[in-house]
Amino acid sequence: MNKTIEYLNKQTDLRPEIGIILGSGLGDFAETIENAVSIPYKDIPGFKQSTVQGHSGELIFGTLAGKNIVAMKGRIHFYEGVDMADVVFPTKILCELGIKTLIVTNAAGGVNEGFEPGDLMIITDHINFNGKNPLIGPNDGKGERFPDMSYAYDPKLAALVKSTAEALKIKHQSGVYMYMTGPSYETPAEVRMARILGADAVGMSTVPEVIIANHRGVKVIGISCITNMAAGILDQPLEHEEVIEISARVADDFKALVTKTIEAI
Ligand code: 6GU
Repeated sequence: MNKTIEYLNKQTDLRPEIGIILGSGLGDFAETIENAVSIPYKDIPGFKQSTVQGHSGELIFGTLAGKNIVAMKGRIHFYEGVDMADVVFPTKILCELGIKTLIVTNAAGGVNEGFEPGDLMIITDHINFNGKNPLIGPNDGKGERFPDMSYAYDPKLAALVKSTAEALKIKHQSGVYMYMTGPSYETPAEVRMARILGADAVGMSTVPEVIIANHRGVKVIGISCITNMAAGILDQPLEHEEVIEISARVADDFKALVTKTIEAI
């Protein structure tokens, strides 16, 4: 980890106060970053590159709305066959760089029948259905052994995102994100289970990063782009192309929402 920080410090003097992880199809947001310094993951000690279409790997330092930020364009997922430690390594680095707020974004399947593809969902809470916890192992001393997760998604920040979406007239929902390992999508029976257990959306990312941020006392904002309805809700098969297409369609709303939120933090 020290090697990574040393390497990054050589690339830029910028000290970010906000980190953002850009999910499937939401990477375009990176273009709005001013004074950008982009560093490919392949050059960063300890970072693994994602193998998934729509997930290029770059760490981008810069400014937005007058604030210093660092963005992860693309992330590695547990389903790619890496250890949990590799999944959360970049998040640990963002925290080490001194961010106070982490904005996590993803593409997710809608489980709540009131949702529609293209909706943005403000994450209010999550269910870790993967079962694996990235804090398993000796406590690294960056936080408590048993971190509280009562406010895993900071309620004040979630309210700020909501009022920002209202002001911008951007269609939005609020709800619970359920983390599945993937990479296969859920069966209709699993989607019914997810709903019964209290999920509004299902996805294959985000939760490990959110646990790490909470452990380190970094506040979290979570936003899902509902790219499709989960299996069995509509009578049609799911395709990754649809995920990319819908997230591209809502990219402008997403950029506006995140930019205005960062301005208001
Ligand atoms: Cl339907 N399920 C999961 N697990 N992840 C998704 C999704 C569905 N749609 C987009 N990402």
